[in-house]
Amino acid sequence: MGYHQSSRRRTIHKQRKKMKGLLEDLKIIAIVSMAMVQQLYMCESGSSLHPVILIPGAGGNQLEARLTKDYKSSSVFCSRWNPIMKDTQGWFRLWFTPTVLLAPYTDCFARRMTLYYDRDSDDYRNAIGVQTRVNKFGSVRSLLYLDPNLKQITTYMAGLVDSLEAIGYVRDKTLFGAPYDFRYGLAPEGHPCAVGSKFLKDLKELVERASSSNGGKSVILVSHSLGGLFALQFLNRNPPSWRKHFIKHLVALSTPWGGSVEGMRTFASGNTLGVPLVNPLLVRTEQRSSESNLWLLPNPTIYDRKTPIVITQNSNYTVDEIPRFLKDIGFGEGVYPYESRIVPLMEQLQAPGVHLTCVIGGGVKTPETLSYGENGFDEQPEIGYGDGDGTVNTVSLRALERLWAKEKNQTLETIVLPGVSHKSILENRDALDAIINEISGINSMGCRHTRAVI
Ligand SMILES: *[C@@H]1O[C@H](CO)[C@@H](O)[C@H](O)[C@H]1NC(C)=O
Ligand SMILES: *[C@@H]1O[C@H](CO)[C@@H](O)[C@H](O)[C@H]1NC(C)=O
Repeated sequence: MGYHQSSRRRTIHKQRKKMKGLLEDLKIIAIVSMAMVQQLYMCESGSSLHPVILIPGAGGNQLEARLTKDYKSSSVFCSRWNPIMKDTQGWFRLWFTPTVLLAPYTDCFARRMTLYYDRDSDDYRNAIGVQTRVNKFGSVRSLLYLDPNLKQITTYMAGLVDSLEAIGYVRDKTLFGAPYDFRYGLAPEGHPCAVGSKFLKDLKELVERASSSNGGKSVILVSHSLGGLFALQFLNRNPPSWRKHFIKHLVALSTPWGGSVEGMRTFASGNTLGVPLVNPLLVRTEQRSSESNLWLLPNPTIYDRKTPIVITQNSNYTVDEIPRFLKDIGFGEGVYPYESRIVPLMEQLQAPGVHLTCVIGGGVKTPETLSYGENGFDEQPEIGYGDGDGTVNTVSLRALERLWAKEKNQTLETIVLPGVSHKSILENRDALDAIINEISGINSMGCRHTRAVI
């Protein structure tokens, strides 16, 4: 009994000693974490945030139009239809308005949205008599909601902007937006590209302005979808010294680095992008005319070259057979710009040497093969599914990991959010938390660096 007691006391004594040690450890941890908190606090207070510029995806910002005297409407109906909410200079919101949902208006809308490739000037242009513009470049205003009168169903980046404001970002001071005419793409060197080049020039000026109005701090670019393709081109088209000086980090959400199979469906049978009630065939011609949609076709350097993606009764099409595919769906005029402008652009996925974090969804069933029946491309296909974010295949979302595996000067982090879709990444609470956590981390990284230097 005595033995047991003393043994117990010894054990208790040992436990107390252990406890004391543990408490000391905890104290140290507490001090360390207090220091970290203080450091974070120091970083997050005051004007020490790196400015953020948001670059939206296709269809992700409002687009305005104005009809000139040269405008010829396709039908009496369209000529009578003049959008109600015009400003004094005739500008009205072309994208997005719910009138698009009503069949006769869908046609008027589609014709005004259609682009034309002009072989003589080797560039894309609007329909004759249609002028377009993005409103408030530099501000996030036109990318919060696609239609400010229908906030609930047309929310785009409002949730992300709210979350950034919650950690101290302030619109037009540390938080900016880079809306653009998403129908246009970019072209490789030697090809004119008036609209896209102007956007990259405006973006450069915005980066420099955001940096200089924030004490010379470098800028964090946050892109969604197609915006990531523009962002990578933007970085690689500016000199390394400029990138190093002005760009802190690129956070690319849901970027289709190698396009998507869904892109082929858009060309073959039209795609309403989830807008209900619209007949996809009514918008197919307009969608085929968009230069950026060609850029979003599956990229031959990323997708498996042997696997057929589109299957029909007479023929199959792999990623290498897109020119024949474009001809066979009845869009032969797309072949020349595809081959001369888009393919060379798709090959430009060089590492910019700028810190890059890809935030992507995964585990959502995503079109991988499209089988068209005996009625051809006018009917929606039977879809074979694979992994991705519901819109973009995993092979495309994660393409840079493979391409850049041997790059020495490139940091690349990928955050995969299970069950998060291409668009819900901008709405889902866990996804927004992950994005904000990443942006906070990027901001505090800078502080740690500064401390180390001091
Ligand atoms: C097309 O691909 C499918 C599935 O891979 C295959 O069964 C079929 O034989 C192919 N058809 C042609 C015409 O090559
Ligand atoms: C990496 O960057 C350093 C410094 O900027 C440069 O000297 C070096 O050539 C780069 N290496 C590669 C492989 O690009």
